[in-house]
Amino acid sequence: MTMSNILEGTNEIINPDTYFQINSQPRTLPDNEIKVKEFVNKHDNAGRRIVLITSGGTTVPIENNTVRFLDNFSAGTRGATSAEYPFYLQPFSRHYTHSTNCFLDYMELKDDDNIEVNPKYSQKMKSVLKKYQKVKQEDTLLLLNFVTLSDYLFLLRSVTQIMTCLKERAMYYLAAAVSDFFIPSQKMVQHKIQSAEGGLTLSMDQVPKFLKPLVTNWVPEGFIVSFKLETDPSLLVSKSRQALTKYGHQIVIGNLLTTRKLEVVFITKDSEFNLKLSEQEVKDDVEIESKIIPELVKKHDEWIKNAEMK
Ligand code: PMT
Repeated sequence: MTMSNILEGTNEIINPDTYFQINSQPRTLPDNEIKVKEFVNKHDNAGRRIVLITSGGTTVPIENNTVRFLDNFSAGTRGATSAEYPFYLQPFSRHYTHSTNCFLDYMELKDDDNIEVNPKYSQKMKSVLKKYQKVKQEDTLLLLNFVTLSDYLFLLRSVTQIMTCLKERAMYYLAAAVSDFFIPSQKMVQHKIQSAEGGLTLSMDQVPKFLKPLVTNWVPEGFIVSFKLETDPSLLVSKSRQALTKYGHQIVIGNLLTTRKLEVVFITKDSEFNLKLSEQEVKDDVEIESKIIPELVKKHDEWIKNAEMK
């Protein structure tokens, strides 16, 4: 490195297995694996179905002692919202975490020792709370966090391996916006890149597509739904179908960055159809996930039935 900071990448795409060999597993992985095993065993014994929902973006560090990282746009809304519909819930903190919808606005200071819910919001909060408490009581939701690409990939591999025992009863709903580029640890500088050395040119390696081993080896009997995000409407259907053909799983849901909360396209081996919110539904705060999830539940039913007939 002379005039400027240059982090070099390569055009060669590594094998998914190699990714796990050259990166160290996150410290939190063993604890998460224990939680997942307990959760899966409990619900497997009760004959229930389990859905793995991945959601949100992944960061990629550009320094080993990370000060800086690259992130993406995903807020994780798709996954958080979708998690509520299989149970017909309206709960969870997402309803109170936006700056326009801060949970503090729902509270009032009654006196020096007590706070209470503002009566204006109590009806809505009551219904969210009731459903949330039901989920807690029945222990039907397990939340696992990831931040970096590596956190995500190690967790994905572990959780899918644990869920293999569910066979067709497992659904994998892959809505996370996973980084396509990264800098392998051994190519990353150790310490904070010094701005005094000039501008920064980044060249990154390609992240292998983990959908391939997931579909073919990790959970071949599972019902797998992946998402395809595009910004150019003319590419959406063709790229979604291409993904379905390439990986050979059950459904690709295509969405455009700007309209993802209003409209999606379902691509299956022998069908293609749109799910869309009407103007009235938008006014009524209907969420597109309320249409996506029942459709997937129907298709998952068929998947299980077909497997039973074999
Ligand atoms: O979170 P929100 O703000 O609500 O936005 C929701 C969403 C737009 C992020 C979501 O609906 C969505 O489209 N998620 C997938 C976005 C995406 O990154 O698509 P992709 O074309 O990069 O990847 C397609 C599929 O390949 C994904 O299912 C992903 O799990 C998988 N993939 C991606 C990268 C990688 N290295 N390996 C993979 O297997």
